[in-house]
Amino acid sequence: MKTDLAKVAWTEALRVNVPDIDSDHQRLIQLYNALVDDMESSYHAETIMHALHFLVHYALSHFAREKAFMERIAYPQIEEHCALHSALEKKVRQIFDQFALDKSPEFAQTIIVFLGDWLMNHIMKEDVAVGRYAFSVYGHEMGNND
Ligand SMILES: [Fe+2]
Ligand SMILES: [Fe+2]
Repeated sequence: MKTDLAKVAWTEALRVNVPDIDSDHQRLIQLYNALVDDMESSYHAETIMHALHFLVHYALSHFAREKAFMERIAYPQIEEHCALHSALEKKVRQIFDQFALDKSPEFAQTIIVFLGDWLMNHIMKEDVAVGRYAFSVYGHEMGNND
């Protein structure tokens, strides 16, 4: 199917500088790009739903790992950050309920665009801020891939 979806590429602007978190984010991007591929081939709502659930499930397990890291470094904005994760989880539940009723490719595309935008913005602003804090307080030992 022809869609307006665009794949995303890993860039330095997304680097948090904590190797485990960066590899989780790279995996999330891979899963997102696989969804774009699924949408570009012939549309099967069940395939998309399955891939979406997989992506979201991975994102939620990632949020737990990220929270553990924020606890470890005593990140001052941990509550606000985790509230953003929780808000996404809640929103995604609503969206999945809607998708169960409207399995159209147009709605699937809306969900994918929403998730992709949320992820990229969140990583670039919120997660990068966590990495910056870790580096400012603990220096190289907390991250940095060099
Ligand atoms: Fe986050
Ligand atoms: Fe993250």
